[in-house]
Amino acid sequence: MSESNNAAPKSFSHEKIETNNFLLIALTLFVLAIGGLVEIVPLFFQKSTTEAVAGLKPYTPLQLMGRDVYLREGCYNCHSQMIRPFRAETMRYGHYSVAGEFVYDHPFQWGSKRTGPDLHRVGGKYSDEWHRIHLNNPRDVVPESNMPAYPWLETSKVDDTAVATRMSALRKVGVPYTDAEIAGAQAEVKDKTEMEAVISYLQVLGRAVK
Ligand code: HEC
Repeated sequence: MSESNNAAPKSFSHEKIETNNFLLIALTLFVLAIGGLVEIVPLFFQKSTTEAVAGLKPYTPLQLMGRDVYLREGCYNCHSQMIRPFRAETMRYGHYSVAGEFVYDHPFQWGSKRTGPDLHRVGGKYSDEWHRIHLNNPRDVVPESNMPAYPWLETSKVDDTAVATRMSALRKVGVPYTDAEIAGAQAEVKDKTEMEAVISYLQVLGRAVK
């Protein structure tokens, strides 16, 4: 600071702040934090971001295991699940995604990498049989596709011993599974293939909002 600032009133401590690195950093962070908190904290309490949209159901045991397959195979590396509120997107994919559709997703699969199309509203777009052929070899239905084939899903069985613990864990973070649903889960996915599981997951995506 130049000498002319000596004329400033003694109580005004701008010079103290500006000449003290630590104080300047601490106070800058403090001011930024206020801005951040004002924007972020309300999101944890607003109904539109914390409550499920009408009609949203927790994943069934089979859908849940299909979601696990989706994560394991890294489908999210090429597919997002979030339709942005832009005309080009809504014309292509349907209604834009809203926060209340993802309250049972832990973790959510929004992503941003779109080597393939967004999948948030793919539920009901194709038949189960289309998905089966497509996942076995995408080129059989989309000749120019560069999506990898996942033929092993057809022959590997869902790990039925894992599903109840998955559901209990999700219940701890707010997914409303009942004791009866958790108790019956293993029987529901017994002897199902991973192909059936991932297709049942894909078919429910984005169905809660019409
Ligand atoms: C290397 C990138 C890549 C990966 C990994 C990938 N995909 Fe794809 N996917 C694509 C591309 C590109 C397309 C568009 C061509 C086509 O339909 O095959 C596509 C299309 C699709 C479609 C049709 C979407 C539509 O609206 O027509 C579905 C469903 C799909 N993928 C599911 C999956 C699933 C499930 C997985 C994981 C098991 C997966 N994909 C992994 C690249 C990928």
